[in-house]
Amino acid sequence: MPIRGPIRKAVIPAAGLGTRFLPATKAVPKEMLPVVDTPAIQLVVEEAVAAGLTDVLMVSGRTKRALEDHFDRVIELELALEAKGDTERLRKVQESTHLGDVHYVRQGDPKGLGHAVLVAAEHVGNEPFAVLLGDDLIDHRDPLLKQMVQVQEERGGNVIALMEVPHEQISMYGCAAIKGPPGDDGVVEITELVEKPPVDEAPSDLAIIGRYVLSPTIFEVLRTTPPGRGGEIQLTDAMAAMIGREPLHGVVFRGRRYDTGDRLDYLKTVVKLASERDDLGPQLLAWLREWLPQQG
Ligand code: UTP
Repeated sequence: MPIRGPIRKAVIPAAGLGTRFLPATKAVPKEMLPVVDTPAIQLVVEEAVAAGLTDVLMVSGRTKRALEDHFDRVIELELALEAKGDTERLRKVQESTHLGDVHYVRQGDPKGLGHAVLVAAEHVGNEPFAVLLGDDLIDHRDPLLKQMVQVQEERGGNVIALMEVPHEQISMYGCAAIKGPPGDDGVVEITELVEKPPVDEAPSDLAIIGRYVLSPTIFEVLRTTPPGRGGEIQLTDAMAAMIGREPLHGVVFRGRRYDTGDRLDYLKTVVKLASERDDLGPQLLAWLREWLPQQG
């Protein structure tokens, strides 16, 4: 019997090694890298809270302190800003401490995304929950998670976010085979999942992106999921093993997504989002227009 119910909890895995961003990620998780002036993880927590998930569990690793400090109060900083009468910056500093109820658990050895989700088992208990990857940003103007939560509440089982990618890029992602074309709401039934398939073996161009709403049965399955691709315990393998046992749906996302775990995509994200801001955009764009033609 699939487990259904109101969803309150979000798990944010942030314990990966972040090797693509070394040396910046030696002491700081990549999820703390600033997107203009806000750490990526704060935007992800804001997204969870906006979707009604106010109980947030971060799965952290050796860089746990930076995460905890960011979501904690820094009294001396607040007092200094208050004394200067800098209310705008004071508001910004306090913003991250007034978000949901943030909890932490350590993954220890980063044995893969599936393993990171498994260490959340005790905190989550026997209820459906969301997983948001801390280096994968969904623009707040294109809400996705709320819809995914709704699909899980209506249909049970696991729900994953999918995005159509250029065919030659599908081998960088988990890939989904679907039954019939997506409806206007983007919801599809998934028949098969493959982690990073060779391009010529991929069953579709639909890539799994970093948002999931999962049934707690996933914990039971993850406990016996052997290491897969790259020697890591893969969340995709566990979800694939549940096909036929519980429903598996995808929501095809057609909005704006930013991958801040990849250096080039990270740079593009920062430039794009800064250019859209009233305080920085006009000056940044003027400089880019002047600078770009000189690059030949
Ligand atoms: P990635 O594979 O993108 O993260 O995992 P990574 O291994 O840190 O990155 P690179 O390739 O070495 O640069 C996706 C998400 O899952 C988390 C990561 O922190 C990231 O948010 N993760 C991954 C864990 O929490 N634990 C793991 O064991 C692996």
